[in-house]
Amino acid sequence: MKSLVSADIEAYAQAHSMPESDLCRALREETQRRMESPQMIVGPLEGAFLKMMAQLVGARRVLELGMFTGYSALCFAEVLPADGTVVTCEVDEESAALARQYFARSPLGKKIEIRMGPALDTMRQLTGLFDLIFIDADKLNYVNYYRRALDLLSPNGVILIDNVLWDGDVLKQPPPDEKTAAIQELNRLVAADPRVSAVLVTIRDGVLVVRPNGTG
Ligand SMILES: C[S@@+](CC[C@H](N)C(=O)[O-])C[C@H]1O[C@@H](n2cnc3c(N)ncnc32)[C@H](O)[C@@H]1O
Repeated sequence: MKSLVSADIEAYAQAHSMPESDLCRALREETQRRMESPQMIVGPLEGAFLKMMAQLVGARRVLELGMFTGYSALCFAEVLPADGTVVTCEVDEESAALARQYFARSPLGKKIEIRMGPALDTMRQLTGLFDLIFIDADKLNYVNYYRRALDLLSPNGVILIDNVLWDGDVLKQPPPDEKTAAIQELNRLVAADPRVSAVLVTIRDGVLVVRPNGTG
């Protein structure tokens, strides 16, 4: 992934943000050693941003689509209250096996519930509202995830959608492939949706922060 900011600015921002926990660092390093696409991890700076967002909305229930090896799920678990929960969706067994190992190393792991299977199916089965929904799974379903996430979001909650700059490819017309087109469609849909307000934050690969209107 191309970096939108220079490496020294990224390092400075990271050094002046909430620190990465020892467990997250160990998981990130092991993911880098063992997995084929370790760059999928949100990393320390976006991880700090996710934690801050969870704290700002006072999140108790978090829903994550796309767990991979569990880095962002652990970030959320670190800042949730003792009775808080992260429901996280994943389809890949190898990634989930590594996540489980790390969740078992910490009492925080008890807050995390892994739901294996396509995230859309899991979303259909879920009941109750979530304070924060983090969308970071397959890009072709981003619009479907966004639509269902609005049904599952608490009135004071927030939806965070990752990779919405897609390495800068969102600027390309016509879109070079289906994934880029799907992300462009999502970004257009959210910007034109009168039910929500949104900010596209240029952290890492772009995070779309979406909040329902009319919540004060
Ligand atoms: C970008 S990674 C998630 C990274 C993770 N949030 C982190 O920061 O560590 C995307 C993950 O979504 C998973 N995924 C892909 N399609 C999925 C689907 N339909 N349902 C659930 N997970 C899916 C992939 O297996 C992959 O592990």
